[in-house]
Formats: sequence, C-alpha cells, structure tokens
Amino acid sequence: MSLVLVILGRQGSGKGTQCARLVDHFGCPHVSTGDMLRAAREDGSELGRKAGEIMDAGGLVPDDVMIGIVRDRLAKPDVLRNGVLLDGFPRTPGQAEELEKMLAAQGQAIDVAINLDVPVDAVMERMLARGREDDTPEAIAKRLALYEEQTAPLVDWFSERDLLQVVDGLGTEDIVWQRVLSAIEADS
Ligand code: AP5
Ligand code: MG
Repeated sequence: MSLVLVILGRQGSGKGTQCARLVDHFGCPHVSTGDMLRAAREDGSELGRKAGEIMDAGGLVPDDVMIGIVRDRLAKPDVLRNGVLLDGFPRTPGQAEELEKMLAAQGQAIDVAINLDVPVDAVMERMLARGREDDTPEAIAKRLALYEEQTAPLVDWFSERDLLQVVDGLGTEDIVWQRVLSAIEADS
C-alpha cells in the first residue's frame, strides 16, 4: 500500500513511538528529520556538527538545509513505491509549501496529516523521563515555544486542505495506536 502520511504534534507527543507501529502496519518508510540529523551528528559530518549545536540549543535547522535533505530522501525508490511516514517535517509553513511541490513533482500527494494532541505539561514529563541529549529543561522550553510559533500554524494549513485528523495522544501507547489507525481509516 502506498500512503503519504504526515505526523504532527508537540515535541514528546509520541510521533516516533507511533511511527514505529505505522511502519510495521503499512510498510512505508519512516522519515524522521530529527533521527536523520542525529545520525548526521553521529557520522561527524560538518552538517551533523552544525545541526547538533542547533538541536542542543532547541532551535530549528534552517529551512533550505532541511528541505534539501528531505528532497533527496523522498526521491529514493522505496518512497516512490511505498509512500512515506513523515515525522518532524514539515515544521514551518515554508517546509509545508515545498513538501507539497516536491511530492507533486514525483506524482505523489499527502493523504492525511495526523495531529497527535498532548498538553504541554504531559510532554514535559515524558521528555524529562526520556533524557535524550537535547532534553534539557532549557532546550525543551525553547523547542516548545518554537512549536507554538512556527509549527502550530501548520495545523490550519492542513485543515484548510481537508487533510487534518486530530488524535488525542494521552493514554497508553496501545490506546493511542487504536485512535491513530481509526483516524487513517476514517480518512481513506
Ligand atoms: P525531533 O527528533 O523531531 O524532536 P521533537 O520534535 O522534539 O520530537 P520528539 O522526537 O522529541 O518527540 P516525539 O513526538 O517523536 O515523541 P517520542 O515518540 O519520542 O527533532 C529534534 C531537533 O531536530 C529539533 O529540535 C530541531 O533542532 C531539529 N529538526 C528536526 N526536524 C526539523 C525540521 N523539519 N526543521 C528544522 N529543524 C528540525 O515520545 C516521547 C517520549 O514519550 C518517549 O520516551 C516515549 O517512550 C514516551 N511516550 C510515547 N507515547 C507515550 C504514551 N502514549 N504514553 C506515555 N509515554 C509515551
Ligand atoms: Mg521523535
């Protein structure tokens, strides 16, 4: 099955967690821009070094850099064949506009955008328990503020295109998974 799915939601809302299940279920590749940047950092590349500094400070990597990385990844045969689960991209209106164009250029389009809705206090608790390198209280606060400013407007962008499904992300991973599946089925 070919599915182009965007998963939105605050930092720590469970996007990566639910994507792991979506990959098993639908067989589409999982493209997490955060995971890609962390891998670049591990490789010790120049891009990885710069991105690492931005991530640790809780900032956003510039749109042109991010768009270039995603464009290369989406042109790969597995995405052309099976679609894609986009996690952490788009994160700004500029990224959303470019995503629409790059998919159209290869004969694809977004099928559905899931917004995993989890309140701020709950995501704070989850991230502090997870303890990733960029999960310091300062970086978390900056990421959440940037989310409200840059990423929350995307919810309207998807809604205007009739692509948005809001899913309550509070509850066990199993309960949230059932809601995610119902939302995708409701849309297709
Ligand atoms: P990224 O890696 O995308 O981080 P994020 O947005 O902060 O989101 P997270 O990965 O922290 O959260 P998640 O929703 O995946 O939650 P998870 O499943 O882990 O980005 C990192 C950085 O890269 C950014 O800050 C930025 O600098 C840069 N970047 C990335 N993309 C970019 C872009 N497009 N443009 C510019 N810059 C970009 O779950 C969180 C925790 O909760 C886990 O411990 C999990 O086990 C737990 N959990 C999950 N579900 C539940 C549940 N139902 N109940 C209880 N706990 C749960
Ligand atoms: Mg993640």
